[in-house]
Order: sequence, then structure tokens, then C-alpha cells
Amino acid sequence: MSDAKAASDALVFFGASGDLAFKKVFPALQAMARRGRLNVPVVGVARSNWKLEQLRARARASIEQHGTIDEAAFAKLSAALRYVDGDYHDDATYAALRKELGDAKRPLHYLAIPPSVFGVVVEGLAKSGCSNDARVVLEKPFGRDLASARALNATLHGVFDESAIFRIDHYLGKGSVENLAIFRFANTFLEPVWNRNYVDNVQITMAESFGVQGRGAFYEEAGALRDVVQNHMLQVVSLLAMEPPTASYHDSMRDEQVKVLRALRPLRPEDVVRGQFSGYRSVAGVSPSSSVETFAALQLQLDSWRWDGVPFYIRAGKCLPVTSTEVLVTLKRPPVAQLARSEANYFRFRLSPDMTIAVGARVKRPGEAMVSEATELEIVQQSRNDELEPYERLLADAMAGEAMLFQREDGVEAAWAVVDPVLGDATPVHEYEPGTWGPDQAQQLTAAIGGWHAPEGR
Ligand code: BG6
Repeated sequence: MSDAKAASDALVFFGASGDLAFKKVFPALQAMARRGRLNVPVVGVARSNWKLEQLRARARASIEQHGTIDEAAFAKLSAALRYVDGDYHDDATYAALRKELGDAKRPLHYLAIPPSVFGVVVEGLAKSGCSNDARVVLEKPFGRDLASARALNATLHGVFDESAIFRIDHYLGKGSVENLAIFRFANTFLEPVWNRNYVDNVQITMAESFGVQGRGAFYEEAGALRDVVQNHMLQVVSLLAMEPPTASYHDSMRDEQVKVLRALRPLRPEDVVRGQFSGYRSVAGVSPSSSVETFAALQLQLDSWRWDGVPFYIRAGKCLPVTSTEVLVTLKRPPVAQLARSEANYFRFRLSPDMTIAVGARVKRPGEAMVSEATELEIVQQSRNDELEPYERLLADAMAGEAMLFQREDGVEAAWAVVDPVLGDATPVHEYEPGTWGPDQAQQLTAAIGGWHAPEGR
């Protein structure tokens, strides 16, 4: 093994002609070039019968559509690009890649390809020597359930050490998500109340007003539980609920996150409501009798000293009224009922599309009566433009061997263990109208706390 922290000296990305490369990877590569963080060869691999010029044209088209061309940075990216064409099952593809890598000794291989071909590519990399001292970056979904995630981990570990494996959950590359940890542990005023004694409940809503956006076939294999709950939503829970990490050893942050995932009780059918928007079954690539959920609402319990008895609610769905992801941490009411009628104090974190932190407080209502009214102190609002895009952040970190924002084997498996019992048809799927907050059954989950918080958004 090379030094775990030595920077990668080439970036290889499989799936160079694919959708993910088009939407996310090329814009991220240009952004890295702009910041002077892309000084290595970048080798695209695909089986499209392309030449290098077509890859360059594709990169330009991608950035025009999903970013903005910066001519100077694009020229750097363009000059760094190399191309290898070939079938992932063919040894010749890996021999050509090895040749293209030239003097590079520590390449990073980014598998922006369907999980069904992860195994074959990893094997090809090993046989050709391309995996020597290399790192590998994988896209979610990482397996389809606990058993397949374990099998995939075993395949990877046959070739790569865990320290060389970088599993992307792009939510962890969002500044607003990282802020959850910063805000919690950098503010003394929060720590005394951040526990079962003061927190009544925690809600996370990930609402998207759009449907499956031409990804019908992909979505049929996933559904909301696999697509966003097992990963993005549970990562958010881990950051909200974790114990403070220590600076004295390197992997402390991930250890604390994994501890939360392991303390979550596996979901039972009665904890979950699944929904499907009306019209989903007519989307191209979707079965006319599909029971895949485009909405999931659930209640989690954490078996930990800090959170015993505090419900964590999650709901995530497509074709909801707005596009917005928000966390609401509601505190218990003070005992003087007449001063604190109705809403309790809360912390509201908007994670997307922008970052907001707000505190719901109560103040005296103007006038003679000694009664309170609700107000909100909005304490941070930051436009996304100030942030690195998640893919830029994560690719640069992986190149540097910095693993903190990537999912570790034990974390991925612990997260699957939470959702595993309710995957597939373990619970019924209820139809809902596009533009609504999902099926009525979801309302019952939060009836005890006065219903769901509905984030604002467009
Ligand atoms: C992806 C899911 O991981 O995250 C998509 O596959 C979802 O279905 C997307 O729309 C949301 O991420 P973001 O960063 O666009 O809010």
C-alpha cells in the first residue's frame, strides 16, 4: 500500500459518456481546474466508439448545460483529458488504460457506472495492475439491501484496502449538511439542550416538486427508501444525533456517525408509510403495475443515552408541493402553559436549495395581555454559490486521500440494516396526487406531535 495520504497522480473515470459524468463530473472537473486542484491526467473510459475529441466536445456540452464555461479552466481540463474506449468485460480495455496511465503510480478510479458492473471493472483493474496503489470511488446505490452491500464490500476488499475505497454520498459534500456538525459542536448554547431532556422530536423533510425526470428504469430499481432514505437521510440523522468527535484521532467523526447508525432500531412495517404519485406507472421504464414508492415517511427510534424516547421522523418524496430539504428540531414546551401556548421553540435547518438556520422563539405579543407569540430568528442564510459543489469537494478530497466525507463499510451496512426489513413490498404503497404532501396515511405518523413541518420553497 502507498501512503494513505499521498495524492492520487491520475484520475480515471469509468462511464465517461454517461449521464452522471454529463451532469456532475465534467462541471466538477472544471471547477477543480479553476481552483488549481487538477494537475494530473484525467482519463475517461467508455464504450462509445469515441475519440478524444468527442470526449472534449462532450465535456464542453456538459459544462454549458450544467454549469458555465470558464475558458481558462476549461482549457486546463481539456489538456488534461485522455480517452480509453472499450468494453468493461474486455481485458484489452484495461491494458489500454494501463498504457494511458503512463508514469502514474497512484491512480484514482471513479466508477460512475451502474453497480451491476462494479465487480467486473474492479476485477479488470486488478488483473491489469491498474489497481496497484490505487484508490477507487464508487457511486451510490451501494448495494440494494444489506446482503448485496456485504457481497459488494467483499468483492471490493478482494482488491482494495478499505482505506482506498471512497463511497460517495453527495449529501455529505454539501456545506449545509456539514454545517449540522459545525453548528452543533461550535456553539456552547446548543449542547445543554441537544438531548432527550429538551428535544421533543426531530423531523427531516426532503421534498422534491419534480418526478423521476426520465430516470424511470433506474428509479424502478430503487424507490425512495433506497434512493435517498438509506443514504442521504440517514447521514443527516447521524450528524444530528452523533456525539462530539475528538480531534485526537483521524476517523473519530465517522466512528461517531456509525455509532448512531448502529443505534437506530431496524424499521418495522408500522413505522413506515410508502406512497406512489399518480401517473408514475405511465413513466417510460416503469412497470404498469409497479409498487415502487416515490414517497416514504417513517419514524425512527434511537437506542442511545442521549436520544432515548425522542422520535426522529423522515419523509422524502417526488412530486411534492415544493423542492426543499429541511430539518426541524422541536424542543419541549416550558411548563408555564399560558406563556407558551401553541408552538414550542425549535431549530430549523434548511439544507437545500439554500442554507438557512433559524430559531423559533416566543416573545411578548404587543399590547396589555401577558401572552407570547411566535417569532423566528433567522440567523444564517447563504447562497449555494458560496459553496463548493458536492462533487468538486468530494472528488478533490478523494484525490487527496481524505476520507471523512465518504461512507465507510460499517456505516453503509448499518444503514442498510435499518431499512432492510421494510424494503420491497413489506408495506403497502398508497397513491397520492402530484403536488400534495403524499398519502393521507403519512399524516398519522406525526399525529402525536401535531403533524409534519412543511418547508417553504418553490
Ligand atoms: C440523488 C437521488 O442521490 O439525490 C435523486 O438519486 C435526488 O433522486 C437527488 O433527486 C437529490 O440531490 P440534490 O443534491 O439535487 O438535492
